Parts: sequence; structure tokens; C-alpha cells
Amino acid sequence: MSPTGDSALEIRLLEPEQRDVALALRLHPHQLDWVPDVADSLALVDRHDNADPWLFWVGDVAVGFCAVTHGGATSSIGGFLVDRDHQGKGYGKAALALVVADTFRSQAKCDSILLTVREGNDPARQLYEGFGFVATERWHRGERIFSLTRAQARKALDRLQAKRKDATP
Ligand SMILES: CC(C)(COP(=O)(O)OP(=O)(O)OC[C@H]1O[C@@H](n2cnc3c(N)ncnc32)[C@H](O)[C@@H]1OP(=O)(O)O)[C@@H](O)C(=O)NCCC(=O)NCCS
Repeated sequence: MSPTGDSALEIRLLEPEQRDVALALRLHPHQLDWVPDVADSLALVDRHDNADPWLFWVGDVAVGFCAVTHGGATSSIGGFLVDRDHQGKGYGKAALALVVADTFRSQAKCDSILLTVREGNDPARQLYEGFGFVATERWHRGERIFSLTRAQARKALDRLQAKRKDATP
């Protein structure tokens, strides 16, 4: 069972032969400036010592991607996206919970997860703040940094579990 209780969506580490699957994910034209190309995210993963490229799957359909880089006390989520044909179905929310849970589980030294959001990308901001990420006053390459501590993540994941229990008849 996933931490969200959403059994429809799974995250799986991208296998080398699945790069084309990730590269085939598409965004709406107005979203292209909001997130790095999958190719750039894959190049970052290739350069990094400790990075997880995740594909999001619903059955055998790849619906999204992100790259998580690990650096001791902090991990960073980048390139987070859901394919344009699959947006608005709750997959971003489910994938985010799974990625956060896996990151804190696998990175014992990680205290917080960081990510950045461009001003004006309200859907992403709402997704991250809705989960429990907190906007900081710090910026990276013109994008605001959001942060989630281990304690905040635990709270968010517990809240999702409780919601799922309430929804079970
Ligand atoms: C941001 C993104 C990943 C959300 O994925 P998604 O699967 O469509 O999101 P979900 O259906 O799981 O919705 C999760 C939450 O995101 C927010 N959200 C999603 N789409 C939204 C929209 N069009 N407007 C406002 N908020 C929106 C809402 O808070 C929503 O929660 P709610 O349904 O309880 O209101 C997706 O829109 C995307 O890939 N955007 C382009 C790339 C991008 O900007 N990535 C983030 C880079 S920082």
C-alpha cells in the first residue's frame, strides 16, 4: 500500500532503457517555462553522484516524472511534471507523497526536501503548499525555494493516511 492509500499510481525508478518513455512526456505550451525539460533533468541525474529519476505509472502508462538529487542533509526535487493528458486527476498529488516518503525513508541523513517554483506557477505552488511544503524567502535562479522538513512530511503523510481511513466504508 502506498503512503497515500492511492493504489492507482506507483512511482518506479527509471530504467536506462526507459529514457524515451520519460522524454515522450508532454506539457501544455504555457507550462514549458515552468519546469526543466526531461532531457535536462536526465542530464542532471547523469552528472549527480546520488540521484533518483522517478517515473510515475498508472498501470502500464507513464504519466509523469521527477528527478530527486540527494546531498546529505537536503534532497531536492526537480523537473516534477505530469503529462498534459493526465493532469488534474490527482496523480501529481499522489506522486509527490510517494516521492517524499521514499526520499525520507532512503536518505537517513536528510532533514529537509527542497524544491523551487517560478512566480506565477500557481498550480505547482498549490500542489506543494497543499501537501505541506513551506515557501521560504530564499531564491534559486529566480525561483522561490520551498522546503519540507522530515517532521512536516510525517505530519502530511499521517494526514493523508487518516483521510484514506475516513474514506474507507
Ligand atoms: C503541477 C502539476 C505537476 C500538478 O499535477 P496534477 O496531476 O495535474 O495535479 P493534481 O491533479 O494531483 O492536483 C494536485 C493539486 O495541485 C493543484 N493544482 C493542480 N492543477 C491546478 C490548476 N490548474 N490550478 C490550480 N491548482 C492546481 C491543486 O492544489 C490540486 O489539489 P486539489 O485538487 O485538491 O485542489 C502539473 O500541473 C504539471 O505537470 N504542470 C507543469 C509542470 C510544472 O509546473 N511542474 C512543477 C514545477 S515546480
